[in-house]
Amino acid sequence: MSAQQPAPAAESGPKKTGCQPPPVDLSVQVGPLRLDNPVMTASGTFGYGDEHPDLTGVSALGAVVTKTTTVEPRAGNPPPRLFETPAGILNSIGLQNVGAEVFVRDVLPRLRELGPAIIVSVGGSRPQDFAHCVELIQGDGLAAFELNISCPNVASGLEFSRSPAEAAKVVRAVRSRTDMPLFVKLSPNVTDIASVGRACIEEGADGLTAVNTFLGMAVDVERRRPVLPRSVGGLSGPAIRPLALCRVWELARRLSCPIIGVGGIVTARDAMEFLLVGASAIQVGTANLRDPSRGARLVEGLREMLRAKGGGRLRDQIGTLRTPLSEG
Ligand SMILES: Cc1cc2nc3c(=O)[nH]c(=O)nc-3n(C[C@H](O)[C@H](O)[C@H](O)COP(=O)(O)O)c2cc1C
Repeated sequence: MSAQQPAPAAESGPKKTGCQPPPVDLSVQVGPLRLDNPVMTASGTFGYGDEHPDLTGVSALGAVVTKTTTVEPRAGNPPPRLFETPAGILNSIGLQNVGAEVFVRDVLPRLRELGPAIIVSVGGSRPQDFAHCVELIQGDGLAAFELNISCPNVASGLEFSRSPAEAAKVVRAVRSRTDMPLFVKLSPNVTDIASVGRACIEEGADGLTAVNTFLGMAVDVERRRPVLPRSVGGLSGPAIRPLALCRVWELARRLSCPIIGVGGIVTARDAMEFLLVGASAIQVGTANLRDPSRGARLVEGLREMLRAKGGGRLRDQIGTLRTPLSEG
């Protein structure tokens, strides 16, 4: 189902009998977006979502988030761009992309055919670049934009996400040019993520995506050199899941806005952790690199989890974490 349409009621059909699975409704509301289910791909880990759709099961997803697009094409960083760590990967892709013009001409028409809601990630070096990119791309068939203010792999990539005032400038510039739903992707590499998130919401963002990768580093001991071209890169994968979960929990406790949780999610159980702490939807990133159908499998896994609880609406699970009294 596309975004902004009424959600279907819980699966109808014959009343539950001994053999019938109980009805399950996976649909969620993420700010202005109504999605069939809460599973999205994370930007940069699923290409544009249009490769081998039969193998990836893309049509089962709630939404596809495209890799970040900038106004001009970018070649990205020199290799090596990926380095495997014990429970994740360091990347230094550097926002390689085809640029807004080619994106609109060649990629968008294919994306519109996919089925799930399409969220376009955009980036830039100045607030007006983000706004210009959105202006060039916005149009029919798109559900929302995700503003990538938190890429650690380009010059000035973290500038906007480390200061509430700078983050606000980006959202203000974009909001003045579009009425489309806006989600802002936050960096975990800050002391107070909620203050950055609040500034974005106050400027008219519809929700927050948390989080981008954690700054990390690896050293080639023989050569006494950093492994990655810019010395540091972004760490993702299961290694960051508890850290990302904690950032989402903090945002949910301190702000009342839609949150899309991302970081190290592999299984439906991982996804449920993020939903329980308050995320309205989740994204699958690094897990796609090993298994591009991971997102589709997660949708099935969430359905099974809910069935095992006796059925019902997944959205009723969101933010229902029971916290110990000592938390205060
Ligand atoms: C290879 C790679 C490329 C990425 N490219 C982007 C990107 O273009 N834009 C963006 O906002 N995030 C990008 N990310 C970050 C992911 O979208 C996600 O926020 C992060 O990897 C954490 O989720 P994960 O642990 O599930 O991968 C990239 C991550 C990886 C591993």
